[in-house]
Amino acid sequence: MTEAVAGNGKLELDRAGLEATLRPLERASMLPPAAYAEPAILDWEIEHLFGGWVCLGHASAIAAPGSWLMREIGPTSVFAMTGADGEVRAFLNACRHRGARLVESTEGAVRRRIQCPYHAWSYDLDGSLVAAPHMDGVEDFDHACNGLIGVRSALVGGLVLVDLGGEAPDPGEHVGELLGRLEHWRVGELERAGGTVYDVAANWKAIAENYNECLHCPGVHPELNRLSDYRSGDTQHGDGNWCGGSMTLNEGAETMGTGDGHAGHRPAIAGLDEREVTSVYYFTLFPNALVSLHPDYVMLHTLWPRDVDRTEVTCEWFFEPETVARDDFDPSDAIDFWDMVNRQDWHVCELAQMGIRAKGFLAGRFSSHEGDVHRFDSLVAERYLEALG
Ligand code: FES
Ligand SMILES: [Fe+2]
Repeated sequence: MTEAVAGNGKLELDRAGLEATLRPLERASMLPPAAYAEPAILDWEIEHLFGGWVCLGHASAIAAPGSWLMREIGPTSVFAMTGADGEVRAFLNACRHRGARLVESTEGAVRRRIQCPYHAWSYDLDGSLVAAPHMDGVEDFDHACNGLIGVRSALVGGLVLVDLGGEAPDPGEHVGELLGRLEHWRVGELERAGGTVYDVAANWKAIAENYNECLHCPGVHPELNRLSDYRSGDTQHGDGNWCGGSMTLNEGAETMGTGDGHAGHRPAIAGLDEREVTSVYYFTLFPNALVSLHPDYVMLHTLWPRDVDRTEVTCEWFFEPETVARDDFDPSDAIDFWDMVNRQDWHVCELAQMGIRAKGFLAGRFSSHEGDVHRFDSLVAERYLEALG
């Protein structure tokens, strides 16, 4: 049995169990159960996996100067904001006076300045401190040294990424060859037409694993399985910290949606080829972004661990601006469909979470159709093993 204990910020996981995950698929085992159940392991993951490049969300949320996108990465609240110069910057969401959170909602906008709700220090859109009331006469207080604390950020393929630790490899290297797919679907130019947040009683990795296979589709998602066969499509490969592949739409289905997958008056995203308009591509950008490329829209899930057995999941839908502008634009078929599928998924993820935490549970084996789950688990296992040294 795989024993695992972690403490003092040091990862302690059974090496043999992790090496078993990294074997070829047909001989591999899933991650050690402790990885889904031990709070100290999540603490380590927040520090090390979520301390590198993490996807905050989609670029459209911060398209206008002064608009921000705020997320909580473990105990750290961070926000990305576009400056008056059009540059995207990210900051710790903490006032330099006594640390108060500056922005309290996940999205919003200011015209010229961010003002602290506590004692009204205010900051320019580039993070510099512009006013600090009642600080006259304070010795060695330099406004220039008291701007917001910056966080490394990047805009890649329409996704807003932050690197809390500041030492992750180049963001282009992180996204790797997935960037070509994101650009081909023009993800960065799309407009959001819906979004929702779920609270799921499962470990974040269990949710990513669920996303990476469709073996459960016939039983869990009969509606989805009617639109694309669970055995269809292929696994895609390329450089970068991602995994995923395609599924093929059945004859007569134009997209994933209620109403038998008819896209209605929504044209396909411009520039997609014949195969692409009859497929859906499901990609996981490690660690927390699930990007689903449909013929006529893109869906983005981001995973936010709140506890070892609890994850907040955001789900958003993006369409071409010209499509959104049409009088007859209606995204509800796509949104309602995936909301139903999401809830079906959360239920089975929660069931898996309940079983995996049972004392005495042993790591399971992968089916030969779970290559993408194996790739995801391998990305995690590699990081665990690096930490074990
Ligand atoms: S904590 Fe922000 S002004 Fe005091
Ligand atoms: Fe599913």
